[in-house]
Amino acid sequence: MINGEEIDVWDGYRLWDAALDADARLWKWCGGNGLCTTCAVLPLAGGENLSAPTHREKFSLATWWLGKPLAFIRKRWKGKPIRLACQAYVRGPVEVVGLFGKKARKVRAAHGIP
Ligand code: FES
Repeated sequence: MINGEEIDVWDGYRLWDAALDADARLWKWCGGNGLCTTCAVLPLAGGENLSAPTHREKFSLATWWLGKPLAFIRKRWKGKPIRLACQAYVRGPVEVVGLFGKKARKVRAAHGIP
């Protein structure tokens, strides 16, 4: 489940591709290359069913969000298990919500997440 859209995928399917297939409206400025962090998602359930974070994912999240203009993002999501959809592969049932975009905001609101 991505931004409230349910889709069946096979083991090892990239979360980002599932989001595209489900029309989940995840942001994707770099085209799924792990560079922009706009596809960042917060797992609501089943986060353990995503593949382990890649080096690129860790590097991108650390470097982009360290920038001063993005300090508000860092503060809001600090300590949360944020993942990049384009770097995560589905290994089982999982529900995630995006950090950016209108559709993600609506789903977060429904879960009481600002
Ligand atoms: S789409 Fe840019 S980091 Fe995932």
